Amino acid sequence: MKRKCTMITVANLKGGVGKTTAVINLAAALGQLGKKVLVVDLDFQGNATTGLGQARGEHGSNIFSVLNGKNTVAEAINETEVKNVDLVGGHRGLLDYAKSRNSALGREYLFENWRDDKALLGYDVVIFDTHPDMDCLTLSALVASDFYLVPLFAELDPIVGLTDMFLQIETIKKRYNKNLSLLGVLVTKFDKAEATHRKLEAKIRSGAKRGNYTVFKNVIPASKRLSSSKLMARPVVTFEPTSQVAKDFVALAKEMIPKLKPKTATTKAEKAISFAAVEEQVLAEASAEAAAQELI
Ligand SMILES: Nc1ncnc2c1ncn2[C@@H]1O[C@H](COP(=O)(O)OP(=O)(O)OP(=O)(O)O)[C@@H](O)[C@H]1O
Ligand SMILES: [Mg+2]
Repeated sequence: MKRKCTMITVANLKGGVGKTTAVINLAAALGQLGKKVLVVDLDFQGNATTGLGQARGEHGSNIFSVLNGKNTVAEAINETEVKNVDLVGGHRGLLDYAKSRNSALGREYLFENWRDDKALLGYDVVIFDTHPDMDCLTLSALVASDFYLVPLFAELDPIVGLTDMFLQIETIKKRYNKNLSLLGVLVTKFDKAEATHRKLEAKIRSGAKRGNYTVFKNVIPASKRLSSSKLMARPVVTFEPTSQVAKDFVALAKEMIPKLKPKTATTKAEKAISFAAVEEQVLAEASAEAAAQELI
């Protein structure tokens, strides 16, 4: 029996760059487009869990109880109020769990048996939300996944450091999962009125060809609507479906769907990704600009 679902890890080793916002809204948008989605919250902060309207589980079944062998995956799946979106919730115990397992044997295979788990048979897409750390949970999600997606604010700090992440992922691909591919870099919290944002976005796109990585055509705008939807514990896609940011998430989901076919071992191997060229250029320009400011 083979699973039919595509597994995606949303990751960035930098915190606060829009991972969870992308996870819950892409899930809602894919659900609206008729895909059956399971979100798995691997972050002890549980933001994807609360963002989908569920209490962060202190009791009952969630990903922590699954990892501890107290529940099966099927028992930990909860329906949400978002159409076609189910959830395996997060738990604060994940922080200590990860710390205690980070150097344990088999730490990268926590989700290995999910590939054949009957509980996932009904889903088209499984999306893992991760903590900004290459701990055993993020690592295991990448090892189990077909794709990873990297959200990125069009600002200097999030760009710097992405090279390290790509390097780590190249190692994971070589050692554990040769079928893992980049679904795309997602430029988010983008303000087209900001010259710096436009400039950095252009660099990310021009660097993509040289560095051999994919950037989604659709960008997600900076939007205050996201704070309101967060307060209401709902994805903006269902909370305010007519807002621009909601429409942009749906457009992004439409762009994603044709790419979701998992690569097989026989598919031509991806070339190594390099973000270094963009990072170097951006840093050089930033320090030149800073030096010019000092002279004024
Ligand atoms: N497009 C956007 N426009 C405005 N605010 C945004 C946007 N995307 C995310 N944010 C805000 O930025 C903050 C961080 O976003 P989010 O929680 O999605 O990041 P994260 O990468 O999951 O963070 P962490 O690493 O802590 O898990 C949140 O307050 C969120 O509402
Ligand atoms: Mg998060």
